[in-house]
Amino acid sequence: MEIVKTCGLKKYFVNGEYEVRALDGVDISIEEGEFTALVGSSGSGKSTLLNMLGGLDTPTEGDVLIRGQSLKSMKRDEKTIFRRRNIGFVFQQFNLVPVLNVYENIILPLRLDGLTPDEAFLKKIIQTLGIEDKMGQMPSTLSGGQQQRAAIARALSVKPAIILADEPTGNLDSRASMEVAGLLKTCAVHFHQTVILVTHDEEVAQMADRILPIEDGKIAMRHGGIDAGTHLAGRAGARDAGTTAARDTGGTASPDRPEGRD
Ligand SMILES: Nc1ncnc2c1ncn2[C@@H]1O[C@H](COP(=O)(O)OP(=O)(O)OP(=O)(O)O)[C@@H](O)[C@H]1O
Ligand SMILES: [Mg+2]
Repeated sequence: MEIVKTCGLKKYFVNGEYEVRALDGVDISIEEGEFTALVGSSGSGKSTLLNMLGGLDTPTEGDVLIRGQSLKSMKRDEKTIFRRRNIGFVFQQFNLVPVLNVYENIILPLRLDGLTPDEAFLKKIIQTLGIEDKMGQMPSTLSGGQQQRAAIARALSVKPAIILADEPTGNLDSRASMEVAGLLKTCAVHFHQTVILVTHDEEVAQMADRILPIEDGKIAMRHGGIDAGTHLAGRAGARDAGTTAARDTGGTASPDRPEGRD
């Protein structure tokens, strides 16, 4: 089932006298449960597209539909609530709150929404990510990879249907990058989530079910003939990466779907 769709999406910025066409007519459709890598050179429009998909910014033209619901048609408050309940963000800077311990950081989005944490579900996420023994520690005492895992746990804590990750491995070495990307993939499968991940790392991109290349604000054809619609699911490499990461971290979560929220 289609979960994310864009129609003629454009975003133009004015920088002084110049107009920058950050997105110049993007039409994509993403299926539920799909793990998509968004790739392209610096300035090609990747972050702009992710921000539009997550309703963090409004398009100049066109619309984003999430499960058929138009973001454009929502009022500001409505969009904020919709975003908080349906979309989890993971950024390159882990953005953990330094004065809160790891557990407090993970449940922060729930607290902000006045919700009681689902402890059994949280335990599953934390185990899958392999950070059970870090809950009482402050973020500054964790490695980059561990901080990013905590940030992923925080994004997952609200059981979002969609995870938008903007270069989540950008600050990690190559081993940690592969591990974190593998964990995102594992979580997507275990918790039935749709992941859209921006990356510069070809190895990380190869883990995805599908690679969406963007150039000058448009979905592009790739060198070597892999086009925007190419689905890579089922390739041995893509599958192994996810399952290896789960095994390495002692992941035990069962492949069930979390209860949906209201
Ligand atoms: N708030 C803004 N105001 C003006 N121009 C902007 C703004 N945000 C982005 N742009 C411009 O839009 C274009 C696309 O930017 P975007 O951040 O989406 O690129 P990107 O693909 O994420 O690049 P990177 O890989 O470096 O993160 C760039 O030319 C950028 O300068
Ligand atoms: Mg960017």
